[in-house]
Amino acid sequence: MADFDVIVIGAGPAGYIAAIRCAQLGMKVACVEEWKTARGEPALGGTCLNVGCIPSKALLESSEQYEHATKGLADHGISVSGAKVDLAKMIGRKDAIVSKMTKGIETLFRKNKIEWLKGHGRFSAPPGGTNDPWHIEVGGEKAAARHVIVATGSKPRHLPGVAVDNDVICDNVGALSFSQVPERLGVVGAGVIGLELGSVWRRLGAKVTMLEALPAFLGAADEAVAKEAWKIFTRDQALDIQLAADISKVSPGKNGVALEYKHEGAQKRLECDRLVISIGRVPNTEGLGAEAVGLKIDARGFIEVDEHCRSSLPGVFAIGDVVRGPMLAHKGEEEGVMVAELIAGQKSHVNYDAIPWVIYTHPEIAWVGRSEQQLKAESVPYRSGQFPFAINGRALGHGDTRGFVKMLAHQKTDEILGVHVINTHASELIAEAVVAMEFRAASEDIARIVHAHPSLSEVMHEAALALDKRALNM
Ligand code: FAD
Ligand code: NAI
Repeated sequence: MADFDVIVIGAGPAGYIAAIRCAQLGMKVACVEEWKTARGEPALGGTCLNVGCIPSKALLESSEQYEHATKGLADHGISVSGAKVDLAKMIGRKDAIVSKMTKGIETLFRKNKIEWLKGHGRFSAPPGGTNDPWHIEVGGEKAAARHVIVATGSKPRHLPGVAVDNDVICDNVGALSFSQVPERLGVVGAGVIGLELGSVWRRLGAKVTMLEALPAFLGAADEAVAKEAWKIFTRDQALDIQLAADISKVSPGKNGVALEYKHEGAQKRLECDRLVISIGRVPNTEGLGAEAVGLKIDARGFIEVDEHCRSSLPGVFAIGDVVRGPMLAHKGEEEGVMVAELIAGQKSHVNYDAIPWVIYTHPEIAWVGRSEQQLKAESVPYRSGQFPFAINGRALGHGDTRGFVKMLAHQKTDEILGVHVINTHASELIAEAVVAMEFRAASEDIARIVHAHPSLSEVMHEAALALDKRALNM
């Protein structure tokens, strides 16, 4: 194998973006990727494109269209009869989107002259001298480079002693490809995957029961948003979410799974046809040869890096889910760009304080910056402004007036410290808040910006005005 300037291990969103940016900056790049599709074909794109962000959003959209057709149109004076789900077609559409996206990366690799080394990559022995390159072994052959970017991602955390077959007991992989809608779906963990995929199957007809270990719902979100979401999901959408559930036994049977658990002081039993386990993800450093070269890994399994993603080894960087910080595709992508630019000798950084989060439920939940409970815990003086979609003309036109925008700004400087949105289009609305925070805007800046009328963005404007007790339409 040839010598390269950079070898990237892993072609998920962190790795493939790093590879492209390195190539743009004139480096000779190889990217090692071992992923194989269910049909055994090698594929780029990692978790995000193959079994994460992209397929989940495709199914969320299809199931939402179905629910809208069957329940959402009556208020508009439109009646629909005979709406039916062709699940094989829906899954096929999702698979086609995934394939288009992963093949798109192959095209980008060709365009940027990035060599895809197919197979498992691992560090072989450390370099002999300070000027020697790193050697990466792929399928028995060795490639050399002065810089290595590790982007090996994450994998689902499983319940100890519970075998995942991705048929009856599933993680995200199986839960994105059921061949029929389960009548009774159990979900362990009411986090992001549980809520998104639980919503998909509920909309398509499953009775969904979620068992969550923690006593608080959506602990990472602002409490006001979590409270509103709880009301909508449990009351309006009949998601049965049981908090502080302590699972003691999971027994797979012929026709499904039985779970025994303690809840509200009582011993309970849940029987379901299929079970999704979504209790978080763990960094993936399996078979990387980290020990052989002394690459430091922390107690939770993440590769240790500084704020510029430099690992404990010279010339070796690590990015994405395999390092600290939120496990989000866009966080990994920006780390990829940063590291490529640092290798090229440029100054580059990632602003970890302005990374947006989106949960693609209906309504969506999105936030950037700190929550009110975090500001309280950190004794930061703040003011808060909140405005509902219920009196926004565009939201009324959409027929979806749920949720609000909540803005938090520093009491003295007025700098925006956090923005929290719950609304059908929260994923798009949050972008304004991200830009504002990146530019270290004050709430007064948003209050003085002209927002189009009628638009949902007027609620962002009104939340900024409400922060100064001068909301105009309430
Ligand atoms: P990965 O995408 O995991 O890619 C790592 C790649 O490295 C894999 O392809 C793997 O095969 C390869 N690899 C690992 N080790 C080796 C090796 N030794 N040799 C060769 N190849 C190797 N995030 C969002 O921001 N928005 C979302 O909407 C969203 N939805 C999600 C939905 C689901 C169901 C899941 C599971 C995740 C979702 N995420 C979402 C999270 C997102 O998928 C991850 O944050 C993202 O994929 C991380 O990117 P990465 O490049 O670090 O790792
Ligand atoms: P998560 O961390 O969001 O949620 C896991 C939940 O499981 C937590 O609420 C946790 O308390 C609970 N839990 C843990 N152990 C449990 C147990 N034994 N019994 C019952 N509950 C238990 O993790 P999730 O949903 O698996 O997703 C993994 C990651 O993938 C997310 O944290 C996120 O980074 C990423 N992701 C992002 C998405 C997005 O951006 N829209 C969508 C899906 C995933």
